[in-house]
Amino acid sequence: MLSNRRIFLQMLSGGIAVALPGWSLAKSGLWTPNDEELPLTPAQTEGPFYPETTIEKQLFNDTDLAQKIAGHEIAKGQGIVVSGVVKDRKGRPLAGSVVEAWQACAAGRYNHSKDNNVTALLDNNFQFWGRAITGEDGKYSFNTIVPGLYPGRMGRHIHFRIDTKEFKRLTTQCYFSEYPEDNAKDGIYKQLNPKDRDLVTVQVDKPAGKPWSGSFNIVVG
Ligand SMILES: [Fe+2]
Repeated sequence: MLSNRRIFLQMLSGGIAVALPGWSLAKSGLWTPNDEELPLTPAQTEGPFYPETTIEKQLFNDTDLAQKIAGHEIAKGQGIVVSGVVKDRKGRPLAGSVVEAWQACAAGRYNHSKDNNVTALLDNNFQFWGRAITGEDGKYSFNTIVPGLYPGRMGRHIHFRIDTKEFKRLTTQCYFSEYPEDNAKDGIYKQLNPKDRDLVTVQVDKPAGKPWSGSFNIVVG
């Protein structure tokens, strides 16, 4: 039986034009990522609280989670802007990617029918889910608050789902450098190898008098 490599070489020598994208070559075993390529953002579990399809989700789906309705009260909690670039392993920005983010409010509650953490107060001023679409530069940004802890999760985290035009869906989560002790106790964070932990840990910047901020770049492939 001919190997993939042999078939590929025969196609080339036979003058057959092949223009396979990198990912399919990688799948076929003909192409190996080199050291200059960026590491992929690791996939992590979606968890049980991906937003349900509700009228609320349809009405409130912008990138400002900290303020559900312009001019209304701001959600409780430490404000933080989480932003980044969606890119491929070559560092090329992926325009038109849909980035969804969902998380608990500061009290540690999701706006979800399966969340039984009922002693935690649901913050009705918080928009528990948002969606960004990347521009030509691949950038997205969410204005949100630091999520609360809840039973079963020891690390503060934001869930992400990224749909690009080029690659398969990535579902993942990010954490915050501000809480290394919480992160170290979190079951899902602990499952990641140290390099992958670094990739999903947002380095928090705390400028005086402003919301915190941090960068979460997402590499898909
Ligand atoms: Fe969660």
